[in-house]
Amino acid sequence: MLIKIRPDQIEIPTASEITPKDVYLSRRSFMARVAAGAALAGGMGALPQAFAQQGRKLPAKLNNAYAVMDKQTAYKDATSYNNFYEFGTDKADPAKNAGTLKTSPWTIDIEGEVKKPFTLDLDALTKLAPLEERIYRLRCVEGWSMVIPWIGYSLSALIKKAEPTGNAKYVEFVTLADKKQMPGLSDPILNWPYREGLRLDEANHPLTLLTLGMYGEVLPNQNGAPVRIIVPWKYGFKSAKSIVKIRFVKDEPKTAWNLYAPQEYGFYSNVNPGVDHPRWSQATERRIGEDGFFAPKRKTLMFNGYNEVAGLYTGMDLRKFF
Ligand code: MTE
Repeated sequence: MLIKIRPDQIEIPTASEITPKDVYLSRRSFMARVAAGAALAGGMGALPQAFAQQGRKLPAKLNNAYAVMDKQTAYKDATSYNNFYEFGTDKADPAKNAGTLKTSPWTIDIEGEVKKPFTLDLDALTKLAPLEERIYRLRCVEGWSMVIPWIGYSLSALIKKAEPTGNAKYVEFVTLADKKQMPGLSDPILNWPYREGLRLDEANHPLTLLTLGMYGEVLPNQNGAPVRIIVPWKYGFKSAKSIVKIRFVKDEPKTAWNLYAPQEYGFYSNVNPGVDHPRWSQATERRIGEDGFFAPKRKTLMFNGYNEVAGLYTGMDLRKFF
């Protein structure tokens, strides 16, 4: 994410590079049909599971209470300009390389300070609560943002099922780290597996989304298939992708970016235009695909505009707990 380039060096796709979603999707389904035909012709009979997952529809009802009015980011931008270091550090790498991620079968272990640890498979996870579509802004610490129609349900539904004990104060998210599927793991930039965490009350906030899809479909691999978290009032790196464990713990968990550079990436990482990153200002941002490189940047909003979370931080010095 933030190792070699500064935000003012980031390449922003131009409008002409953006394909409308319908055109893009029909092209993709054409390619999928071609690939399916080739597989059958080759005597394979069926597509590999992971491939079959890609592009699968995931019906969900729009939750108007959680839908920002901003223009949505084009599907092509949201799926081709990514941070997913397990597949490379360049923004284009995840879309290029994440085809090797096998997303089915998939399980999540729920463990730690809970009444009884258990494992959920993807089917059980998908059926745990009604799926909702929520249109959230996501603001990356690098100074760009997107607006995406995500699909999932409040993480609080899973937390309720987990029955955390009185000792559980934090939730830790551990993501997949498999060298066979993830070429980026051979680069020891981060202390793999990628890990993130929230305080239990943050994890229980209704905005925190256990996310299984976007744009009406299951998550594309590069966006964290088959399950990730979206925490829209925090910098994007808190939104861990391809989660395999959710652990309830007593103490603040270690997180991947905080371990890498504690002075730059704090545990809280709330979007806060008043607290600069040590190497750049956080006062403004570019909306990917919309604000061209020479357009004036837009102002970044406190908590990314999600003021309803302010109460979680009453009495805390958000400069100290950045
Ligand atoms: N999760 C994992 N497992 N690995 C990563 O490298 N990058 C984070 C976050 N989740 C990352 C991750 C960062 S820095 C950001 S900004 C968001 O994912 C980007 O999500 P997007 O690519 O879907 O926009």
